[in-house]
Amino acid sequence: MNAREEIDRLTEKLKMYQDKYYKEGISLIPDSEYDRLSDHLAALEREHPDLQHPDSPTKRVGSDLTNDFPEVRHTIPVLSLDKAYSDGAVLDFFNRSIQKEGGLLSFAAEEKIDGISMVLYYEKGVLVRAVTRGNGEIGNDVTPNIMTMPSVPLSLPESIDIAVRGEVYLGKEDFLRLNEAETDESKRAANPRNLAAGTVRRQKSSEARRVPLTIFCYEGFWDDKDSTPQDHLHILAKLKALGFRINPHLAFFSSDAETARRKLDEAGLDGEAYAFSDIDGFIRKKAEERAGLPYEIDGLVFKINELDVRERFGYTEHHPRWAIAYKFDAPQAEARLLGITVQVGRTGRITPVAEITPTKLGGSTIRRATLHNQEYIDELELAIGDTVSISKRGDVIPAVENVIEKNTDGNTVYRLPHDCPCCHTPIVQVGGLQFCPDYDCPDQVKGRISYFASADQMDIETLGPKTVALLYDAGILKGIEDIYTADFTAAASLPGMGEKSIGQLEKGIRESLSRPFVTVLSSLGVAEIGRKTAQMLVENGFDSIDRILEAADLKDPSAFASIPGFGSVMGERIIEAFSSPRLRETIEALRKAGLHLDAASDQVEEKAEDQVFSGQVWCITGSFKAFNPRSKALREIEKRGGRTVSSVTSKTTHLLAGEGGGSKRKEAERLGVQIVTEEEFLSAIGAGTERGEDGQLLLF
Ligand code: IVH
Repeated sequence: MNAREEIDRLTEKLKMYQDKYYKEGISLIPDSEYDRLSDHLAALEREHPDLQHPDSPTKRVGSDLTNDFPEVRHTIPVLSLDKAYSDGAVLDFFNRSIQKEGGLLSFAAEEKIDGISMVLYYEKGVLVRAVTRGNGEIGNDVTPNIMTMPSVPLSLPESIDIAVRGEVYLGKEDFLRLNEAETDESKRAANPRNLAAGTVRRQKSSEARRVPLTIFCYEGFWDDKDSTPQDHLHILAKLKALGFRINPHLAFFSSDAETARRKLDEAGLDGEAYAFSDIDGFIRKKAEERAGLPYEIDGLVFKINELDVRERFGYTEHHPRWAIAYKFDAPQAEARLLGITVQVGRTGRITPVAEITPTKLGGSTIRRATLHNQEYIDELELAIGDTVSISKRGDVIPAVENVIEKNTDGNTVYRLPHDCPCCHTPIVQVGGLQFCPDYDCPDQVKGRISYFASADQMDIETLGPKTVALLYDAGILKGIEDIYTADFTAAASLPGMGEKSIGQLEKGIRESLSRPFVTVLSSLGVAEIGRKTAQMLVENGFDSIDRILEAADLKDPSAFASIPGFGSVMGERIIEAFSSPRLRETIEALRKAGLHLDAASDQVEEKAEDQVFSGQVWCITGSFKAFNPRSKALREIEKRGGRTVSSVTSKTTHLLAGEGGGSKRKEAERLGVQIVTEEEFLSAIGAGTERGEDGQLLLF
C-alpha cells in the first residue's frame, strides 16, 4: 500500500471510530489502540503534508506548534444583540415587529449561552476557519483550537459553503473540576466563560484539547441563497441534520400555542409552544430553571422566525432589528438622585440626565445616568431626592432602574421645563420625545459642528467639543459651513489657542476636504443617516448629493423605502430632512468649499495622490506613537496605493513594526519580508511629528 492509500484508509477508519464515540457514545476499540493508529497517521501526515485530509481526525488531537491567531475579516455580519430587561420590553419587541411588518409573525426563543461567540466557516463541506467575533468585522482565526472540539464537525455530509454561528462554552461541572485541579490560584478562572475564552486562545492546541469545550450552534448563513432554509426553525433543523449541536431547550411563540406547535412539528423540532401572552410566565419559568442548567446562561434570545422579514428589518450598526436579548439581571447598586440636568443634543433632542451620588458599580464610579425622556421619568415616578437603584445596561450604559425609597423633602415627580434650557424656545413633543425646534439653538449648533468634526466623521483632529464651544462663543464658527470659510487668525487671542494650534486646526480642516462622499453624507448630522445608512444609500444608487436632493424634491418615499432595511417611515424622514432650506444652504456652502459631494470625485482624488506604495502589500504590528488608533497608519498606506492585510504571508511585502508585536515580526523575519520602523515609515510618507497641546503626537 502506498502512502496515499494508507493515509486515506487510516483517515476513514479513525473518522468512523470518532463518529461512533462522539455521536453515539460507542467505543469500538480500546483507547490505546486508537492512539496508536492516530499517532501512525500523524507521522505519515508529517512525512507527506500534501496528502493530509483537511478534516483529518488528527486535527482533533491538536499540536504543540504555537498558534498566533491571525486576524481575518468575516464574510457575514457578526453583530451583537439589542437588549431588554423586562418581559414588557420583550412583548413590546413582539408588538413593534408585528406592527412594522403589518402581518403576523412568529418568534423563536433560545437560551442566551454565556460563552464565546464563534463563526465556523465551511467550504465545500469542509471546516476551513473558526473565527472569534472580534469587533464584528475582523476576528481571530482560532481554527486549530476549535478543531479539537468533538462537537465541531470537521466535514459535513453535503459539499456546501456555509458559515455557522454558535457559542463555545464550558459546562459548570467541568469548570469546577478543572478550577479545583488548578493548584496555582492566580491561574484560576473567575467563571466558565473566562476559562472558555482563555482556552480558545491557548497557544498550543494540544493543551486546548484538555478542556472539554463544547458548542451550541444557532444561526446558519448559506452562500447559495437558494439553499437557505425558509425560516429559523428550518435552519436549526438543517444545522442539526448536518451534524451541528443544537440547544434542545427551544421555545416558539406565535399568536396562539397551537400555531406555534404546528410550526415546530413542521420543522421536525422538539420544543415548547407558546402564545405571545405567555411571555411573562415563560421568562419566570426560565429564570427559575437557570440555576439547574448544566451550563451558564445570561438571558434569552428572541428572534423573528421568518427570514424574508429579517431581511426587510435589516441591521443597525450594532445589532439585527429582528432579534432581542432578554438579560436576566443587570448588576445593580443604590444611589440618591441629587438633581436632574437637561441636555440639548445636536438634533435638538432634549435629554434629562440624572445626577446621582457617586456610586461604584461593575468596576467604575457612576455619577450620571440618562433618563431618556419625560415618559421614562413618569414611569419611574422619579423625584429629586429619591433613593434609586442603578444598573449598567449592556454592561456599559448607566441606567436608573427603580425608585427604592421616596424622598422626604416633599418633592413630586420631576417635570421637564417647558422651554429649551439653552435658547428658551418652547419645547415640542415628537412621539414620546422632546425637542428644541430651533435649528439655531446654540447647543444644537455646537453639537452639529462637533459631530461633523469628530473622529468617526470628518476627523478634523483638533476640532473637539471644547474648541468648537470656544470658537462658537467667539462668533468665529456659527455653523458647519463656516469651518471652511472662517478666518481663524482672530482665534489666536482665545484662551488655550495660540498660533501653533491654529496652524494645526487649519491643516486638519484642509485634510478633511479629501474625505469621501459617504463620510460627508453621514457627517451632515441628519438624524437618520449614520455611517451605515450613508453607505447603504451610496451602494443603492444615491451616490451623489444631487441624486438625494432630486429624490427629495420628487417627494416619493418609495425611492428610499425600497433599500433593504429602510422602510417608508425612514424614506419620509430622509425626504423631510433634505427638504429643509437650512440643510440645503449648508450643502451648497460645502459644495463651494470643495468637499466631495459625489462618489465619483472620491476616485479622482485618490488617483491624484502620490501612489508610492502601489503594488505593495503591508501588514502592521505593535503600537505607534503617531498612529493612534493604528487604523490611521493603514489609511496612510492605502491613500498611497498600498494594500493592507491582517497577517504576514508570503505575499506580504512590508511589515510596519511599532513597539511590541512578536509573532508577526518573527514571521516577517522568517519570510524575508521588509520590516519598516515607525521613523522610517514617517519619512517614507514625507511626514514628521510634533506634540500637540494635550501631549499627543501629531502628524504634520
Ligand atoms: S443570535 C445575528 N442566539 O449573545 C445573530 N446569540 O449579546 C445574533 N449568544 O454575540 C446572535 N446565545 O455570542 C444568538 N442563542 C443565541 C445566543 C447568542 C448566546 C451570544 C452571541 C452574541 C451575544 C449578543
